[in-house]
Amino acid sequence: MFRLTCPLVSLGPVYHEELNAPIRRNKEEPKARPLRVGDTEKPEPEPLQKDLDNKLFGQHLAKKIILNAVFGFINNPKPKKPLTLSLHGWTGTGKNFVSKIIAENIYEGGLNSDYVHLFVATLHFPHASNITLYKDQLQLWIRGNVSACARSIFIFDEMDKMHAGLIDAIKPFLDYYDLVDGVSYQKAIFIFLSNAGAERITDVALDFWRSGKQREDIKLKDIEHALSVSVFNNKNKTESSYVAQAGLDFLDLSDPPASASQNAGIIGGFWHSSLIDRNLIDYFVPFLPLEYKHLKMCIRVEMQSRGYETNEDIVSRVAEEMTFFPKEERVFSDKGCKTVFTKLDYYYDD
Ligand SMILES: Nc1ncnc2c1ncn2[C@@H]1O[C@H](COP(=O)(O)OP(=O)(O)OP(=O)(O)O)[C@@H](O)[C@H]1O
Ligand SMILES: [Mg+2]
Repeated sequence: MFRLTCPLVSLGPVYHEELNAPIRRNKEEPKARPLRVGDTEKPEPEPLQKDLDNKLFGQHLAKKIILNAVFGFINNPKPKKPLTLSLHGWTGTGKNFVSKIIAENIYEGGLNSDYVHLFVATLHFPHASNITLYKDQLQLWIRGNVSACARSIFIFDEMDKMHAGLIDAIKPFLDYYDLVDGVSYQKAIFIFLSNAGAERITDVALDFWRSGKQREDIKLKDIEHALSVSVFNNKNKTESSYVAQAGLDFLDLSDPPASASQNAGIIGGFWHSSLIDRNLIDYFVPFLPLEYKHLKMCIRVEMQSRGYETNEDIVSRVAEEMTFFPKEERVFSDKGCKTVFTKLDYYYDD
């Protein structure tokens, strides 16, 4: 059993259930409680591994990194800092999907658990003029929740659209401090999602495809290499520090990604923040663009979950309706597995 337990402390409504509403301060903010080493069942890696193997398609790198990172962290009774994962890649390739799988494997109820908190930059922090307010609320929210449950999980979606000031506001929680204002954040998990770097990740996948190499042979170092040639040549870097520095480098705005529309807002946050300068990101997790065969896998899963028998003819027709890039070669789905499900409706509605 991988799932963790946390004491049931009522913290009032969870933030993501009240979209755009200000975070309510708990009337009585929970006091920091000493962390109880061993307040978890001994986790096993199998369920997470099984879920990733069975449900996540075409992402061999993300699978491996996430399994090692999450399992290693959960099993460490005294982590020195919270786990910070930064998930990057093309739209519809599984970043939210994987966050959900992680959450479900750690807490009953997954994303709906009281210990899992999802923030979407454009939804929860839409107005630049309210940054000071958001900052205070976010810090209070994180503090209150980690006080109640040391192993709380915080997921920040659309990180590339998040205001730099807001990212700086969470920085102290991610660092190597034993306590911040009497609270330890060392067992918490922070997951950041963004499309930043998607073009370069895609370029690597395309290079492999064009040279007839297997996608599964893409190594993390190939992606890192594409993101930063110079940084990764530095043999003295530890893994976590070079991962962080990769972020710094691939966000070098002197060389912006070719199609900036995908990454609208990239300049707005992540890259200017000291998250990266201070090596606070433990793992950079690349998501590869999905191919035709992966779309078919997504469609089959959806058919099964709707209780239909797999109909390969419909599977192919739905997959073929999707658009692929580059234009001539048509290798990768430009929306990943997003929208395949709505296209399926058409075949079953008449
Ligand atoms: N690699 C994958 N394997 C299996 N299913 C996938 C994969 N990628 C996407 N899906 C399916 O497509 C849906 C949409 O993907 P998801 O929301 O995770 O994309 P994303 O990477 O977060 O995209 P965006 O960058 O646009 O937010 C998922 O809920 C899942 O059903
Ligand atoms: Mg997403």
